[in-house]
Amino acid sequence: MRVQLRVFVNRAAAGLLVLLLAANASQAQTSAIAHARNGMVASEEARATRIGVEILKQGGNAVDAAVAVGFALAVTLPESGNLGGGGFMVIRLAGGDRAIAIDYRETAPASATRDMFLNEKGEADPLKSRFTGLAVGVPGTVAGLAYAHHRYGSGKFTLAQLIAPAIPLARDGFEIDARLAASLAQAQPRLARHPSAVAIFLKPDGSVPGIGDRLVQKDLAQTLEEVAQQGPFAFYEGPIADRIAAQVRLVGGHMTGRDLADYRAREREPVRGNYRGYDVISMPPPSSGGVHLVQMLNILEGYDLRALGQNSPAALHLLIEAMKLAFADRAEFLGDPDFLKVPVKGLASKRYAAALREGIDRERARSAAEIRPGKPAVFEPDHTTHFSVVDRDGNAVANTYTLNFFYGVGMVAEGTGVLLNNELDDFAAAPDAPNAYGLTGGDANAPGPRKRPLSSMTPTIVLRDGKPFFVTGAAGGSRIITAVLQAIVNAVDFGMDVGAAVSAPRVHHQWLPDEAGAEIGIAPEVADALKERRHVVREGRSGRAVNSIMATADGWAGAIDPRSGGLAEGY
Ligand code: GLY
Repeated sequence: MRVQLRVFVNRAAAGLLVLLLAANASQAQTSAIAHARNGMVASEEARATRIGVEILKQGGNAVDAAVAVGFALAVTLPESGNLGGGGFMVIRLAGGDRAIAIDYRETAPASATRDMFLNEKGEADPLKSRFTGLAVGVPGTVAGLAYAHHRYGSGKFTLAQLIAPAIPLARDGFEIDARLAASLAQAQPRLARHPSAVAIFLKPDGSVPGIGDRLVQKDLAQTLEEVAQQGPFAFYEGPIADRIAAQVRLVGGHMTGRDLADYRAREREPVRGNYRGYDVISMPPPSSGGVHLVQMLNILEGYDLRALGQNSPAALHLLIEAMKLAFADRAEFLGDPDFLKVPVKGLASKRYAAALREGIDRERARSAAEIRPGKPAVFEPDHTTHFSVVDRDGNAVANTYTLNFFYGVGMVAEGTGVLLNNELDDFAAAPDAPNAYGLTGGDANAPGPRKRPLSSMTPTIVLRDGKPFFVTGAAGGSRIITAVLQAIVNAVDFGMDVGAAVSAPRVHHQWLPDEAGAEIGIAPEVADALKERRHVVREGRSGRAVNSIMATADGWAGAIDPRSGGLAEGY
């Protein structure tokens, strides 16, 4: 069956558009939809999407294709695709009700301490947690993708075959387009501080390469070859691991070869919920995404959103109130489940949602202080990428992975081509000290040896009548959870097609700071009506990369988020 695909804008233009849209918090257009009968991939970068579709065509399952896309994005989307970061993969296997959550989040080294990000006065020091070797977590991506392939791949492809398409792209390079040039320009000040990054991503004088120049990543090609030939151990033991640890130590970290050798991806029980008869499968801790997605959906289920109208003041008011409640709980209860008991069942229970709903006034916003006091603060970096894959048998994969900031800490482990993350900023450096996304937390998410920092990534699969209906996720730090929430509400409550569901303007509230960010596409009169309900409404950004796939009567419909571009394609 031939693909029917309408590309919504050409790629270079899309790149420019992405950054303009992100900068202006604007969201004006609706994604075109790609239709296909068999399988589909929706990712933030076209080459990677096509690599995934090729694996599907050759008989690979959705997991095989996702693994190939994950390795390809490490080359073609270096700002957030990665080998040196970590992430989460949610898989729904066809032919039963088996769902799997693979946690390949970065871990803190064994030397990590509670006060590692404090200055001499005992205050949180964001420079330490974002821009030094202390910020770098032990990378999980290679272990996670290899684990997914080994346990849930079709068995028709070796790991080497899934990595193979990425290698020439790294070795021979590819043309830098407007989008990549713009993201390099954004990260230039950070990249320029590390000779290992300058050598690959900038010109020798430290300036940004132009559109049409080639990005060649020979060391990364070599690293990929070694992982392909020897398996993930080549990354975690031996020269590559030694180089990563040495690079981290060079800039003030304490990572050791042992930390890398000890890294393991973990399989976890997904969080499950039910929203208006649709089953929701999402990522459990150490992500907060799935738990709070289900919590917010449970709260919203008590209201007839459809009757209120999509993006009407009355509907947005309820969404924002639900967001505040969820994020207040996030700050208190969420952390690495290997180190504390996270009350997942309680947070995701319908009865708890009903109790929370009782506190919601339909006409008046509660201030964050009424919910729980705190200190507002927010930085606005952008990061992370999400992709969705389905195959002809109905297997589905939602994968979100990240370096934290664009290009992570901005440093490449010398000789490996591997950009390193700054994920450990996602810990609560001190009680109530905001991380880069303005998120606060307490002991539950304190740094500690071998702990995984709390995440907001929310790869999610929504089932209708037991079959994948909507495969989704997002990028954008704390805004991930609320972007996924609104995509699902758009699809379920408002019956939007996949293009409209991912494109519609969104709002975001995370309890602190006590303000609702509204994208420019939210009509001014709607914002005014929210203000009348006592919301503090500011122009703001939403999550991005809500690259999603929806089931149709005869196959699949895919759409990319126009905020970040990419390609949805199937066969
Ligand atoms: N680094 C952002 C997140 O994992 O939520």
